Amino acid sequence: MTQDTLLARASHEEAGTRWWRDAVIYQVYVRSFADSDGDGVGDLPGIRSRLPYLAGLGVDALWLTPFYVSPMADFGYDVADYRDVDPLFGTLADARDLIADAHGHGLRIIVDVVPNHTSDKHAWFQAALAAAPGSPERARYIFRDGRGPEGTEPPNDWESVFGGPAWTRLPDGQWYLHLFASEQPDLNWENPEVHAEFADILTFWLDLGVDGFRVDVAHGMAKAPGLPDVGHANQVEMLGTAVLPYFDQDSVHDIHRAWRRLLDSYDGERIAVAEAWAPTPQRLAHYTRPDELHQAFNFHYLTAAWDADELRQVIEESLATAGEVGAPATWVLSNHDVKRHVTRYGDGEQGLRRARAAALLTLALPGSSYVYQGEELGLPEVLDLPEEFQQDPQRLRGEGAGRDGCRVPLPWDGEEPPFGFGAGAASWLPIPTAWRDLTVAAQTADPASILALYREALRIRRDHPSLSDGELRWEASPPGTLVFVRENGGRRLACAVNTGTRTARVPLNGTPLLASGPIHVAGGHAELPPDTALWWDAEEV
Ligand code: NOJ
Repeated sequence: MTQDTLLARASHEEAGTRWWRDAVIYQVYVRSFADSDGDGVGDLPGIRSRLPYLAGLGVDALWLTPFYVSPMADFGYDVADYRDVDPLFGTLADARDLIADAHGHGLRIIVDVVPNHTSDKHAWFQAALAAAPGSPERARYIFRDGRGPEGTEPPNDWESVFGGPAWTRLPDGQWYLHLFASEQPDLNWENPEVHAEFADILTFWLDLGVDGFRVDVAHGMAKAPGLPDVGHANQVEMLGTAVLPYFDQDSVHDIHRAWRRLLDSYDGERIAVAEAWAPTPQRLAHYTRPDELHQAFNFHYLTAAWDADELRQVIEESLATAGEVGAPATWVLSNHDVKRHVTRYGDGEQGLRRARAAALLTLALPGSSYVYQGEELGLPEVLDLPEEFQQDPQRLRGEGAGRDGCRVPLPWDGEEPPFGFGAGAASWLPIPTAWRDLTVAAQTADPASILALYREALRIRRDHPSLSDGELRWEASPPGTLVFVRENGGRRLACAVNTGTRTARVPLNGTPLLASGPIHVAGGHAELPPDTALWWDAEEV
Protein backbone atom coordinates (compact mmCIF):
# COMPACT_ATOMS: atom_id res chain seq x y z
CA MET A 1 0.00 0.00 0.00
CA THR A 2 1.41 3.45 -0.85
CA GLN A 3 1.87 6.21 1.71
CA ASP A 4 -0.85 8.18 -0.09
CA THR A 5 -3.23 5.27 0.20
CA LEU A 6 -2.60 4.91 3.92
CA LEU A 7 -3.13 8.63 4.39
CA ALA A 8 -6.32 8.59 2.34
CA ARG A 9 -7.60 5.71 4.47
CA ALA A 10 -6.68 7.50 7.71
CA SER A 11 -8.31 10.79 6.72
CA HIS A 12 -11.40 8.93 5.56
CA GLU A 13 -11.66 7.44 9.02
CA GLU A 14 -10.92 10.63 10.88
CA ALA A 15 -13.57 12.48 8.95
CA GLY A 16 -16.01 9.84 10.22
CA THR A 17 -17.23 9.35 6.66
CA ARG A 18 -19.71 6.63 6.08
CA TRP A 19 -17.09 4.10 5.05
CA TRP A 20 -19.59 1.58 3.74
CA ARG A 21 -21.05 3.87 1.08
CA ASP A 22 -18.16 3.30 -1.32
CA ALA A 23 -16.37 0.37 0.32
CA VAL A 24 -14.91 -2.52 -1.64
CA ILE A 25 -15.85 -5.62 0.31
CA TYR A 26 -14.01 -8.88 -0.35
CA GLN A 27 -15.96 -12.08 0.20
CA VAL A 28 -13.96 -14.78 1.95
CA TYR A 29 -15.52 -18.21 1.52
CA VAL A 30 -13.81 -19.46 4.66
CA ARG A 31 -13.73 -23.14 3.70
CA SER A 32 -11.79 -22.41 0.53
CA PHE A 33 -9.55 -19.45 1.30
CA ALA A 34 -6.49 -20.69 3.21
CA ASP A 35 -5.93 -23.80 5.32
CA SER A 36 -3.56 -23.36 8.28
CA ASP A 37 -3.65 -26.88 9.75
CA GLY A 38 -3.34 -29.03 6.64
CA ASP A 39 -6.74 -30.74 6.91
CA GLY A 40 -7.74 -29.58 3.43
CA VAL A 41 -10.31 -27.08 4.69
CA GLY A 42 -9.75 -23.32 5.01
CA ASP A 43 -9.90 -21.80 8.50
CA LEU A 44 -9.68 -18.58 10.51
CA PRO A 45 -5.92 -18.74 11.21
CA GLY A 46 -5.47 -19.30 7.46
CA ILE A 47 -7.29 -16.04 6.73
CA ARG A 48 -5.22 -14.30 9.37
CA SER A 49 -2.01 -15.42 7.68
CA ARG A 50 -3.21 -13.93 4.39
CA LEU A 51 -4.28 -10.52 5.70
CA PRO A 52 -1.21 -8.82 4.19
CA TYR A 53 -2.36 -10.08 0.77
CA LEU A 54 -5.86 -8.65 1.28
CA ALA A 55 -4.59 -5.33 2.61
CA GLY A 56 -2.18 -5.13 -0.32
CA LEU A 57 -4.98 -5.86 -2.77
CA GLY A 58 -6.59 -2.66 -1.54
CA VAL A 59 -10.03 -3.73 -0.33
CA ASP A 60 -11.71 -2.05 2.63
CA ALA A 61 -13.50 -4.90 4.37
CA LEU A 62 -13.88 -8.68 4.42
CA TRP A 63 -17.14 -10.54 4.55
CA LEU A 64 -16.57 -13.97 6.10
CA THR A 65 -19.06 -16.74 5.27
CA PRO A 66 -20.37 -18.67 8.33
CA PHE A 67 -17.71 -20.23 10.54
CA TYR A 68 -20.00 -21.14 13.45
CA VAL A 69 -20.57 -24.61 14.88
CA SER A 70 -22.34 -26.54 12.16
CA PRO A 71 -22.86 -30.10 10.90
CA MET A 72 -22.12 -28.56 7.44
CA ALA A 73 -25.20 -29.90 5.70
CA ASP A 74 -25.13 -26.58 3.81
CA PHE A 75 -21.49 -25.74 4.54
CA GLY A 76 -22.13 -23.59 7.58
CA TYR A 77 -25.47 -22.06 6.55
CA ASP A 78 -26.93 -24.61 8.97
CA VAL A 79 -25.84 -23.22 12.32
CA ALA A 80 -25.94 -25.34 15.48
CA ASP A 81 -24.38 -22.73 17.79
CA TYR A 82 -24.33 -19.07 16.75
CA ARG A 83 -21.94 -18.01 19.48
CA ASP A 84 -19.02 -20.37 18.84
CA VAL A 85 -16.62 -21.32 16.06
CA ASP A 86 -16.72 -24.75 14.45
CA PRO A 87 -13.53 -26.70 15.34
CA LEU A 88 -12.99 -27.19 11.60
CA PHE A 89 -12.44 -23.43 11.30
CA GLY A 90 -10.71 -22.70 14.63
CA THR A 91 -11.75 -21.30 17.98
CA LEU A 92 -13.43 -18.23 19.35
CA ALA A 93 -9.98 -16.96 20.30
CA ASP A 94 -8.99 -17.30 16.60
CA ALA A 95 -12.02 -15.20 15.64
CA ARG A 96 -11.02 -12.55 18.16
CA ASP A 97 -7.43 -12.52 16.90
CA LEU A 98 -8.54 -12.35 13.30
CA ILE A 99 -10.79 -9.36 13.97
CA ALA A 100 -8.02 -7.56 15.87
CA ASP A 101 -5.40 -8.29 13.21
CA ALA A 102 -7.70 -7.29 10.37
CA HIS A 103 -8.35 -3.99 12.11
CA GLY A 104 -4.60 -3.57 12.47
CA HIS A 105 -4.37 -3.90 8.68
CA GLY A 106 -7.10 -1.31 8.17
CA LEU A 107 -9.62 -3.98 7.12
CA ARG A 108 -13.13 -4.16 8.55
CA ILE A 109 -14.82 -7.47 9.25
CA ILE A 110 -18.38 -8.38 8.32
CA VAL A 111 -19.70 -11.74 9.47
CA ASP A 112 -22.64 -13.75 8.20
CA VAL A 113 -25.77 -14.12 10.29
CA VAL A 114 -28.25 -16.85 9.38
CA PRO A 115 -31.66 -15.95 10.86
CA ASN A 116 -34.14 -17.70 8.57
CA HIS A 117 -33.26 -21.19 9.77
CA THR A 118 -31.03 -23.08 12.17
CA SER A 119 -29.39 -26.46 11.83
CA ASP A 120 -31.53 -29.44 12.78
CA LYS A 121 -28.77 -30.13 15.33
CA HIS A 122 -29.34 -26.77 17.05
CA ALA A 123 -30.37 -27.24 20.70
CA TRP A 124 -33.72 -25.57 19.98
CA PHE A 125 -34.62 -27.95 17.19
CA GLN A 126 -33.47 -30.96 19.15
CA ALA A 127 -35.73 -29.79 22.00
CA ALA A 128 -38.58 -29.29 19.54
CA LEU A 129 -38.20 -32.84 18.23
CA ALA A 130 -38.31 -34.21 21.78
CA ALA A 131 -41.37 -32.10 22.69
CA ALA A 132 -45.01 -32.67 21.84
CA PRO A 133 -47.03 -30.96 19.10
CA GLY A 134 -48.30 -27.61 20.37
CA SER A 135 -45.42 -27.22 22.88
CA PRO A 136 -43.45 -23.97 23.36
CA GLU A 137 -40.37 -25.81 22.00
CA ARG A 138 -42.15 -26.44 18.70
CA ALA A 139 -43.41 -22.84 18.63
CA ARG A 140 -39.87 -21.63 17.84
CA TYR A 141 -40.13 -23.33 14.44
CA ILE A 142 -42.93 -23.80 11.93
CA PHE A 143 -44.63 -27.09 12.69
CA ARG A 144 -48.02 -27.94 11.18
CA ASP A 145 -50.31 -30.92 10.75
CA GLY A 146 -50.48 -32.31 7.25
CA ARG A 147 -53.36 -32.26 4.78
CA GLY A 148 -55.51 -35.19 3.71
CA PRO A 149 -57.44 -37.66 5.85
CA GLU A 150 -54.32 -39.05 7.58
CA GLY A 151 -52.35 -35.81 7.37
CA THR A 152 -50.03 -37.52 4.91
CA GLU A 153 -49.89 -34.58 2.51
CA PRO A 154 -47.61 -31.59 3.29
CA PRO A 155 -49.43 -28.61 4.89
CA ASN A 156 -49.08 -26.56 1.67
CA ASP A 157 -47.43 -26.64 -1.76
CA TRP A 158 -44.26 -24.72 -0.89
CA GLU A 159 -41.07 -26.02 -2.45
CA SER A 160 -37.56 -26.00 -1.04
CA VAL A 161 -35.06 -23.72 -2.81
CA PHE A 162 -32.86 -26.82 -3.03
CA GLY A 163 -35.62 -28.86 -4.71
CA GLY A 164 -38.46 -31.06 -3.47
CA PRO A 165 -41.15 -30.14 -0.94
CA ALA A 166 -40.33 -27.57 1.77
CA TRP A 167 -41.84 -29.83 4.45
CA THR A 168 -40.57 -32.93 6.22
CA ARG A 169 -42.76 -35.21 8.31
CA LEU A 170 -41.81 -36.48 11.74
CA PRO A 171 -42.69 -39.93 13.11
CA ASP A 172 -45.36 -38.29 15.31
CA GLY A 173 -47.15 -37.11 12.18
CA GLN A 174 -46.37 -33.35 12.28
CA TRP A 175 -44.51 -31.61 9.49
CA TYR A 176 -41.85 -28.89 9.80
CA LEU A 177 -41.00 -26.23 7.26
CA HIS A 178 -37.56 -25.89 5.68
CA LEU A 179 -37.21 -23.52 2.75
CA PHE A 180 -33.74 -24.97 2.15
CA ALA A 181 -32.41 -28.44 3.10
CA SER A 182 -34.38 -30.60 5.54
CA GLU A 183 -31.43 -30.08 7.92
CA GLN A 184 -32.29 -26.34 7.95
CA PRO A 185 -35.64 -25.93 9.77
CA ASP A 186 -37.19 -22.45 9.40
CA LEU A 187 -37.53 -20.41 12.55
CA ASN A 188 -40.87 -18.91 13.55
CA TRP A 189 -40.32 -15.15 13.54
CA GLU A 190 -43.78 -14.59 15.00
CA ASN A 191 -42.34 -15.85 18.27
CA PRO A 192 -40.80 -13.04 20.41
CA GLU A 193 -38.29 -15.54 21.78
CA VAL A 194 -36.72 -15.77 18.32
CA HIS A 195 -36.37 -11.97 18.11
CA ALA A 196 -34.73 -11.84 21.54
CA GLU A 197 -32.33 -14.66 20.70
CA PHE A 198 -31.10 -12.98 17.52
CA ALA A 199 -30.72 -9.58 19.18
CA ASP A 200 -28.50 -11.38 21.66
CA ILE A 201 -26.50 -13.13 18.93
CA LEU A 202 -25.88 -9.84 17.10
CA THR A 203 -24.85 -8.23 20.39
CA PHE A 204 -22.41 -11.07 21.04
CA TRP A 205 -20.56 -10.47 17.75
CA LEU A 206 -20.77 -6.68 17.93
CA ASP A 207 -19.18 -6.84 21.38
CA LEU A 208 -16.46 -9.02 19.90
CA GLY A 209 -15.69 -6.16 17.52
CA VAL A 210 -17.22 -7.05 14.14
CA ASP A 211 -18.06 -4.15 11.85
CA GLY A 212 -21.25 -5.61 10.51
CA PHE A 213 -23.33 -8.48 9.25
CA ARG A 214 -24.27 -10.02 5.97
CA VAL A 215 -27.85 -11.12 6.57
CA ASP A 216 -28.56 -14.50 4.96
CA VAL A 217 -31.99 -14.83 3.32
CA ALA A 218 -32.92 -11.36 4.58
CA HIS A 219 -36.09 -11.63 2.48
CA GLY A 220 -37.13 -14.81 4.33
CA MET A 221 -38.10 -14.97 8.01
CA ALA A 222 -41.62 -13.51 7.62
CA LYS A 223 -44.21 -15.78 6.02
CA ALA A 224 -47.65 -14.80 4.70
CA PRO A 225 -50.35 -15.29 7.37
CA GLY A 226 -52.02 -18.68 7.07
CA LEU A 227 -49.15 -20.04 4.92
CA PRO A 228 -51.21 -19.97 1.69
CA ASP A 229 -50.41 -22.17 -1.33
CA VAL A 230 -48.34 -20.70 -4.15
CA GLY A 231 -50.47 -22.47 -6.72
CA HIS A 232 -47.53 -23.24 -9.06
CA ALA A 233 -44.98 -25.97 -9.34
CA ASN A 234 -41.33 -25.28 -10.12
CA GLN A 235 -41.18 -22.39 -7.72
CA VAL A 236 -37.41 -22.24 -8.05
CA GLU A 237 -38.00 -20.44 -11.34
CA MET A 238 -40.01 -17.77 -9.53
CA LEU A 239 -37.29 -16.94 -6.98
CA GLY A 240 -36.33 -13.30 -7.19
CA THR A 241 -38.78 -12.57 -10.00
CA ALA A 242 -42.28 -13.25 -8.61
CA VAL A 243 -44.18 -12.61 -5.40
CA LEU A 244 -44.13 -15.69 -3.15
CA PRO A 245 -45.86 -16.17 0.23
CA TYR A 246 -42.60 -17.18 1.87
CA PHE A 247 -40.26 -14.45 0.61
CA ASP A 248 -40.18 -10.65 0.60
CA GLN A 249 -43.22 -10.20 2.83
CA ASP A 250 -43.76 -6.62 4.03
CA SER A 251 -43.58 -7.61 7.69
CA VAL A 252 -39.95 -8.76 7.33
CA HIS A 253 -38.96 -5.10 7.41
CA ASP A 254 -39.92 -4.79 11.09
CA ILE A 255 -37.07 -7.19 11.89
CA HIS A 256 -34.60 -5.13 9.88
CA ARG A 257 -35.72 -1.92 11.60
CA ALA A 258 -35.11 -3.46 15.02
CA TRP A 259 -31.67 -4.65 13.92
CA ARG A 260 -30.79 -1.20 12.59
CA ARG A 261 -31.61 0.32 15.97
CA LEU A 262 -29.27 -2.21 17.57
CA LEU A 263 -26.47 -1.48 15.08
CA ASP A 264 -26.87 2.26 15.56
CA SER A 265 -26.53 1.88 19.31
CA TYR A 266 -22.87 0.90 18.71
CA ASP A 267 -20.11 3.28 17.72
CA GLY A 268 -18.03 2.92 14.58
CA GLU A 269 -20.78 2.62 11.97
CA ARG A 270 -21.54 -1.07 12.15
CA ILE A 271 -23.48 -2.12 9.09
CA ALA A 272 -25.72 -4.82 7.70
CA VAL A 273 -26.03 -5.96 4.11
CA ALA A 274 -29.10 -7.84 2.97
CA GLU A 275 -28.92 -10.99 0.91
CA ALA A 276 -32.37 -10.38 -0.44
CA TRP A 277 -33.89 -11.71 -3.63
CA ALA A 278 -36.76 -9.34 -4.40
CA PRO A 279 -38.90 -9.38 -7.55
CA THR A 280 -37.93 -5.84 -8.60
CA PRO A 281 -35.16 -3.31 -7.86
CA GLN A 282 -37.88 -1.18 -6.22
CA ARG A 283 -38.77 -3.95 -3.76
CA LEU A 284 -35.08 -4.58 -3.15
CA ALA A 285 -34.58 -0.92 -2.22
CA HIS A 286 -37.08 -1.35 0.64
CA TYR A 287 -34.40 -3.29 2.54
CA THR A 288 -32.16 -0.22 2.54
CA ARG A 289 -34.61 2.48 3.62
CA PRO A 290 -32.91 4.86 6.06
CA ASP A 291 -34.13 2.98 9.14
CA GLU A 292 -33.35 -0.50 7.74
CA LEU A 293 -30.18 -2.18 6.50
CA HIS A 294 -27.28 -0.27 4.95
CA GLN A 295 -26.89 -2.19 1.71
CA ALA A 296 -28.49 -4.98 -0.30
CA PHE A 297 -26.69 -7.17 -2.81
CA ASN A 298 -27.56 -6.19 -6.33
CA PHE A 299 -28.35 -9.50 -7.99
CA HIS A 300 -29.97 -7.71 -10.92
CA TYR A 301 -26.47 -6.54 -11.89
CA LEU A 302 -25.03 -10.02 -11.37
CA THR A 303 -27.63 -11.61 -13.63
CA ALA A 304 -27.35 -9.03 -16.44
CA ALA A 305 -25.87 -10.26 -19.71
CA TRP A 306 -22.61 -8.87 -21.08
CA ASP A 307 -24.44 -6.34 -23.20
CA ALA A 308 -24.06 -2.56 -23.06
CA ASP A 309 -27.80 -1.79 -23.28
CA GLU A 310 -28.77 -4.32 -20.65
CA LEU A 311 -25.97 -3.26 -18.33
CA ARG A 312 -26.86 0.40 -18.72
CA GLN A 313 -30.49 -0.29 -17.93
CA VAL A 314 -29.63 -2.24 -14.78
CA ILE A 315 -27.11 0.36 -13.67
CA GLU A 316 -29.57 3.23 -14.16
CA GLU A 317 -32.37 1.39 -12.42
CA SER A 318 -30.13 0.33 -9.52
CA LEU A 319 -28.82 3.85 -9.01
CA ALA A 320 -32.31 5.34 -9.20
CA THR A 321 -33.96 2.89 -6.81
CA ALA A 322 -31.10 2.97 -4.28
CA GLY A 323 -30.97 6.75 -4.61
CA GLU A 324 -34.66 7.08 -3.81
CA VAL A 325 -34.06 5.64 -0.35
CA GLY A 326 -30.69 7.37 0.08
CA ALA A 327 -28.72 4.10 0.04
CA PRO A 328 -25.56 3.34 -1.92
CA ALA A 329 -25.99 0.94 -4.83
CA THR A 330 -23.96 -2.26 -4.61
CA TRP A 331 -22.29 -4.15 -7.45
CA VAL A 332 -21.76 -7.89 -7.38
CA LEU A 333 -20.41 -10.08 -10.19
CA SER A 334 -19.93 -13.41 -8.40
CA ASN A 335 -20.38 -15.16 -5.06
CA HIS A 336 -20.34 -18.67 -3.61
CA ASP A 337 -23.85 -19.43 -4.92
CA VAL A 338 -23.50 -18.69 -8.63
CA LYS A 339 -21.36 -19.74 -11.56
CA ARG A 340 -18.19 -17.65 -11.63
CA HIS A 341 -18.51 -14.75 -14.07
CA VAL A 342 -15.48 -15.66 -16.21
CA THR A 343 -17.49 -18.73 -17.18
CA ARG A 344 -20.86 -16.95 -17.37
CA TYR A 345 -19.32 -14.44 -19.75
CA GLY A 346 -18.18 -17.12 -22.20
CA ASP A 347 -15.31 -18.93 -20.41
CA GLY A 348 -11.79 -19.26 -21.83
CA GLU A 349 -10.07 -16.21 -23.26
CA GLN A 350 -13.30 -14.41 -24.04
CA GLY A 351 -14.64 -14.92 -20.52
CA LEU A 352 -11.42 -13.63 -19.00
CA ARG A 353 -11.31 -10.61 -21.33
CA ARG A 354 -14.85 -9.72 -20.36
CA ALA A 355 -14.17 -10.29 -16.65
CA ARG A 356 -11.25 -7.87 -16.88
CA ALA A 357 -13.43 -5.26 -18.56
CA ALA A 358 -16.24 -5.92 -16.08
CA ALA A 359 -13.83 -5.25 -13.20
CA LEU A 360 -13.12 -1.76 -14.52
CA LEU A 361 -16.81 -1.12 -15.19
CA THR A 362 -17.83 -2.32 -11.72
CA LEU A 363 -15.12 -0.52 -9.78
CA ALA A 364 -15.93 2.79 -11.50
CA LEU A 365 -19.62 2.73 -10.55
CA PRO A 366 -20.92 4.82 -7.63
CA GLY A 367 -21.52 2.79 -4.49
CA SER A 368 -20.03 -0.26 -2.88
CA SER A 369 -18.46 -3.19 -4.76
CA TYR A 370 -18.14 -6.80 -3.72
CA VAL A 371 -15.24 -8.97 -4.87
CA TYR A 372 -15.68 -12.73 -4.51
CA GLN A 373 -12.43 -14.48 -3.58
CA GLY A 374 -10.62 -15.61 -6.70
CA GLU A 375 -12.32 -13.21 -9.08
CA GLU A 376 -9.18 -11.07 -8.78
CA LEU A 377 -7.33 -14.16 -10.13
CA GLY A 378 -9.78 -14.60 -12.99
CA LEU A 379 -10.75 -18.06 -11.75
CA PRO A 380 -13.29 -19.83 -13.93
CA GLU A 381 -16.02 -22.17 -12.69
CA VAL A 382 -14.69 -25.72 -12.35
CA LEU A 383 -17.15 -27.58 -14.53
CA ASP A 384 -15.65 -31.07 -14.40
CA LEU A 385 -15.38 -31.75 -10.67
CA PRO A 386 -15.46 -35.51 -10.19
CA GLU A 387 -18.85 -36.65 -8.91
CA GLU A 388 -17.39 -38.11 -5.70
CA PHE A 389 -16.19 -34.66 -4.61
CA GLN A 390 -19.44 -32.80 -5.21
CA GLN A 391 -21.23 -32.16 -1.95
CA ASP A 392 -23.56 -29.18 -2.35
CA PRO A 393 -27.17 -29.91 -1.26
CA GLN A 394 -28.45 -27.74 -4.11
CA ARG A 395 -27.58 -30.60 -6.49
CA LEU A 396 -31.02 -31.94 -5.55
CA ARG A 397 -32.43 -29.39 -7.97
CA GLY A 398 -30.99 -31.43 -10.80
CA GLU A 399 -28.16 -31.71 -13.29
CA GLY A 400 -25.69 -28.82 -13.12
CA ALA A 401 -27.38 -27.12 -10.15
CA GLY A 402 -24.54 -27.76 -7.66
CA ARG A 403 -22.45 -24.85 -6.44
CA ASP A 404 -19.20 -26.73 -5.75
CA GLY A 405 -17.60 -25.46 -8.96
CA CYS A 406 -17.40 -21.86 -7.69
CA ARG A 407 -16.11 -22.94 -4.27
CA VAL A 408 -12.85 -24.61 -5.31
CA PRO A 409 -10.00 -23.47 -2.99
CA LEU A 410 -7.72 -20.61 -3.99
CA PRO A 411 -4.36 -21.32 -5.62
CA TRP A 412 -1.67 -19.33 -3.81
CA ASP A 413 1.69 -20.52 -5.12
CA GLY A 414 3.76 -23.46 -6.34
CA GLU A 415 3.52 -25.80 -9.29
CA GLU A 416 1.26 -28.56 -7.99
CA PRO A 417 -2.16 -28.73 -6.31
CA PRO A 418 -3.06 -27.68 -3.66
CA PHE A 419 -0.93 -24.68 -4.66
CA GLY A 420 -0.12 -23.43 -1.15
CA PHE A 421 -3.78 -23.53 -0.08
CA GLY A 422 -2.69 -25.60 2.91
CA ALA A 423 0.15 -27.66 4.26
CA GLY A 424 -1.65 -30.95 3.54
CA ALA A 425 -1.47 -32.96 0.35
CA ALA A 426 -5.07 -32.29 -0.67
CA SER A 427 -7.86 -29.78 -0.48
CA TRP A 428 -11.54 -30.57 0.20
CA LEU A 429 -12.28 -29.94 -3.47
CA PRO A 430 -9.44 -30.69 -5.91
CA ILE A 431 -7.80 -27.67 -7.56
CA PRO A 432 -7.28 -28.06 -11.32
CA THR A 433 -3.62 -28.50 -12.29
CA ALA A 434 -4.14 -25.82 -14.96
CA TRP A 435 -4.45 -23.26 -12.17
CA ARG A 436 -0.68 -23.29 -11.79
CA ASP A 437 -0.67 -20.23 -14.06
CA LEU A 438 -3.38 -18.55 -12.00
CA THR A 439 -1.76 -18.65 -8.56
CA VAL A 440 -1.30 -15.44 -6.62
CA ALA A 441 2.48 -15.89 -6.91
CA ALA A 442 2.41 -16.45 -10.68
CA GLN A 443 0.15 -13.45 -11.24
CA THR A 444 2.11 -11.21 -8.90
CA ALA A 445 5.12 -11.79 -11.15
CA ASP A 446 3.13 -10.80 -14.25
CA PRO A 447 2.26 -7.11 -14.68
CA ALA A 448 -0.30 -8.04 -17.35
CA SER A 449 -2.23 -10.40 -15.06
CA ILE A 450 -5.80 -9.81 -13.93
CA LEU A 451 -4.48 -9.65 -10.35
CA ALA A 452 -2.24 -6.75 -11.34
CA LEU A 453 -5.27 -5.11 -12.99
CA TYR A 454 -7.37 -5.44 -9.79
CA ARG A 455 -4.54 -4.09 -7.64
CA GLU A 456 -4.08 -1.07 -9.87
CA ALA A 457 -7.82 -0.44 -10.24
CA LEU A 458 -8.30 -0.60 -6.48
CA ARG A 459 -5.36 1.75 -5.93
CA ILE A 460 -6.78 4.28 -8.37
CA ARG A 461 -10.24 3.89 -6.88
CA ARG A 462 -8.87 4.71 -3.46
CA ASP A 463 -6.71 7.63 -4.55
CA HIS A 464 -8.90 9.28 -7.20
CA PRO A 465 -11.39 11.61 -5.50
CA SER A 466 -13.96 11.17 -8.26
CA LEU A 467 -14.47 7.49 -7.46
CA SER A 468 -15.87 8.09 -3.98
CA ASP A 469 -19.58 8.15 -3.30
CA GLY A 470 -21.38 10.35 -5.83
CA GLU A 471 -23.04 10.71 -9.18
CA LEU A 472 -22.44 9.25 -12.62
CA ARG A 473 -22.92 11.12 -15.93
CA TRP A 474 -23.48 9.16 -19.12
CA GLU A 475 -21.82 10.36 -22.32
CA ALA A 476 -22.97 9.66 -25.86
CA SER A 477 -21.14 6.63 -27.24
CA PRO A 478 -21.25 4.22 -30.20
CA PRO A 479 -23.69 1.25 -30.10
CA GLY A 480 -22.42 -1.63 -27.96
CA THR A 481 -20.43 0.68 -25.70
CA LEU A 482 -20.89 2.51 -22.42
CA VAL A 483 -19.12 5.74 -21.53
CA PHE A 484 -19.63 7.59 -18.28
CA VAL A 485 -17.87 10.16 -16.16
CA ARG A 486 -17.47 10.34 -12.40
CA GLU A 487 -16.70 13.76 -11.00
CA ASN A 488 -15.77 15.01 -7.57
CA GLY A 489 -13.45 17.53 -5.96
CA GLY A 490 -12.57 19.07 -9.33
CA ARG A 491 -11.35 15.74 -10.70
CA ARG A 492 -13.01 13.57 -13.32
CA LEU A 493 -12.53 9.94 -14.19
CA ALA A 494 -14.11 8.56 -17.35
CA CYS A 495 -14.83 4.91 -18.03
CA ALA A 496 -15.52 3.39 -21.45
CA VAL A 497 -16.54 -0.23 -22.03
CA ASN A 498 -16.97 -2.03 -25.32
CA THR A 499 -19.24 -5.07 -25.03
CA GLY A 500 -19.72 -5.28 -28.81
CA THR A 501 -18.09 -7.48 -31.41
CA ARG A 502 -16.23 -4.72 -33.27
CA THR A 503 -13.53 -2.26 -32.28
CA ALA A 504 -15.17 0.97 -31.08
CA ARG A 505 -13.79 4.48 -31.33
CA VAL A 506 -14.50 6.71 -28.34
CA PRO A 507 -13.40 10.33 -27.87
CA LEU A 508 -10.59 10.53 -25.31
CA ASN A 509 -10.38 13.93 -23.60
CA GLY A 510 -7.57 13.29 -21.15
CA THR A 511 -4.89 10.87 -20.01
CA PRO A 512 -5.39 7.09 -20.02
CA LEU A 513 -5.04 5.62 -16.53
CA LEU A 514 -5.79 1.92 -16.92
CA ALA A 515 -7.03 -0.39 -19.65
CA SER A 516 -8.33 -3.94 -19.29
CA GLY A 517 -6.58 -4.99 -22.51
CA PRO A 518 -4.59 -3.58 -25.43
CA ILE A 519 -6.01 -0.30 -26.77
CA HIS A 520 -4.88 2.15 -29.39
CA VAL A 521 -4.86 5.88 -28.66
CA ALA A 522 -4.47 8.46 -31.41
CA GLY A 523 -5.80 11.88 -32.34
CA GLY A 524 -8.03 12.46 -29.31
CA HIS A 525 -9.64 9.04 -29.61
CA ALA A 526 -9.20 5.61 -28.11
CA GLU A 527 -9.83 2.48 -30.12
CA LEU A 528 -11.29 -0.16 -27.87
CA PRO A 529 -11.28 -3.76 -29.13
CA PRO A 530 -14.31 -5.91 -28.20
CA ASP A 531 -14.64 -6.75 -24.48
CA THR A 532 -12.28 -4.02 -23.38
CA ALA A 533 -12.62 -1.19 -20.86
CA LEU A 534 -10.58 1.93 -20.27
CA TRP A 535 -10.30 4.48 -17.48
CA TRP A 536 -8.91 7.93 -18.14
CA ASP A 537 -8.37 11.10 -16.19
CA ALA A 538 -10.81 13.32 -18.01
CA GLU A 539 -10.52 17.00 -18.74
CA GLU A 540 -13.52 19.26 -18.43
CA VAL A 541 -15.53 19.48 -21.64
C1 NOJ B 1 -27.81 -18.03 0.88
C2 NOJ B 1 -26.40 -18.52 1.01
O1 NOJ B 1 -25.55 -17.65 0.30
C3 NOJ B 1 -26.39 -19.93 0.49
O2 NOJ B 1 -25.07 -20.42 0.35
C4 NOJ B 1 -27.22 -20.78 1.40
O3 NOJ B 1 -27.31 -22.09 0.85
C5 NOJ B 1 -28.63 -20.22 1.55
N1 NOJ B 1 -28.65 -18.80 1.74
C6 NOJ B 1 -29.35 -20.87 2.72
O4 NOJ B 1 -28.82 -20.39 3.93
